[in-house]
Amino acid sequence: MNGFVKIATTDKLTPGKMITVKINNVEVVVGNNNGNYFAMEEICSHEGGPLHEGYFENSFVVCPWHAAKYDVKTGKADASTPWGKKQKIFQVKIEGNDILVKV
Ligand code: FES
Repeated sequence: MNGFVKIATTDKLTPGKMITVKINNVEVVVGNNNGNYFAMEEICSHEGGPLHEGYFENSFVVCPWHAAKYDVKTGKADASTPWGKKQKIFQVKIEGNDILVKV
């Protein structure tokens, strides 16, 4: 399947939810930000916070530890939280009800 791995179904990842999965030994947070699915490195580049335990602020994931904000599309930290570095972003695709991620 071109490296894509099924990680969940869309009914399990409703808007506002995030889960963490391990793909090829990489911890990934997969979330639904207002209907837009995204996948990003789970471990915060600041001091290792678990991003899936954070929350959304508009199109940003906010780290639960020191509130670095990461854009769900680019993985870049918002200028207002410069202690966050860039998080890797992974490809997501939806096939029927399946959510697939490529790491
Ligand atoms: S560990 Fe994420 S902001 Fe500090």
